[in-house]
Amino acid sequence: MNRSLVTIAEHSREKIEYLLEMATEFEKHPNRRILEGKVVATLFFEPSTRTRLSFETAANRLGARVIGFADPKVTSGTKGETLKDTIMMVSNYADIIVMRHYLEGAARYASEVAPVPIVNAGDGANQHPSQTMLDLYSIYKTQGTLENLNIYMVGDLKYGRTVHSLLMAMRHFNPTFHFIAPDELAMPEYYKQYCKEHDIRYVEHKDFDADTISGADILYMTRVQRERFSDLVEYERVKDSYLLKLNMLGKARKNMKILHPLPRVNEIEYSIDETPYAYYFQQAGNGLFARQALICDALGITLDEVKNDKTII
Ligand code: CP
Repeated sequence: MNRSLVTIAEHSREKIEYLLEMATEFEKHPNRRILEGKVVATLFFEPSTRTRLSFETAANRLGARVIGFADPKVTSGTKGETLKDTIMMVSNYADIIVMRHYLEGAARYASEVAPVPIVNAGDGANQHPSQTMLDLYSIYKTQGTLENLNIYMVGDLKYGRTVHSLLMAMRHFNPTFHFIAPDELAMPEYYKQYCKEHDIRYVEHKDFDADTISGADILYMTRVQRERFSDLVEYERVKDSYLLKLNMLGKARKNMKILHPLPRVNEIEYSIDETPYAYYFQQAGNGLFARQALICDALGITLDEVKNDKTII
């Protein structure tokens, strides 16, 4: 059985709920020795702060050891070694590989050649399933449910792999999506078609103001990603398209939470950090527990084993 996590679309509702329950167990007790003797490799071919460090913290807090790289320039890829050969080599050393790559489909390819599980930590503009697990966990913690929520996605919906993954995962929970983006960064047709095929309601907006966002349970802000643009003139034109300002929250629902996968560049005014709507830093914190669950699941450790674990420190 291939225990890799390439896309969240492969997970059933039951599997998502199972992983969220496991994350809850890890939030109660994040420090254990349940992965003693295991080696986790983190291969980051693209920059990262949260994803890599939270995966590594997750592994360290569970007693595993961590190997890997944060910058492909220090690897033999610079001498021409292929992704396949790199993956085969690291599989000799590690029990699981967490990989971020700039090419869409790289994680899928790695999962097909690797003898150990691959966890996709982001592949180009395609998918970011571990981010989605922490997003779902954050939504559940703040709303008390994943069902029937109004989720507003704002900013770079074209290249934003986090919104693509979240959209697919939410298909089990009857959401209504609102896509707020300029034409250049609109939600791709592929994902709108996915919504239609799964009976997911969505509305598209260009305006971004207090009235437009007044119905949101979740306001999911995203960064315009300079690194995805081939034309930097186009990037300059759209980069400051949607800035959430404090004075736009006057009509917000009481339960509304602002999420952002981070890093933030110019999408959320700093004054909003102090409001009860801001949840993006706690969201990143939840990544530790969600990723502890994902690593354990990929290594074949069950929820029952986590619940009955006697290695808690
Ligand atoms: N959310 C996210 O993927 O952040 P990093 O790029 O810092 O890992």
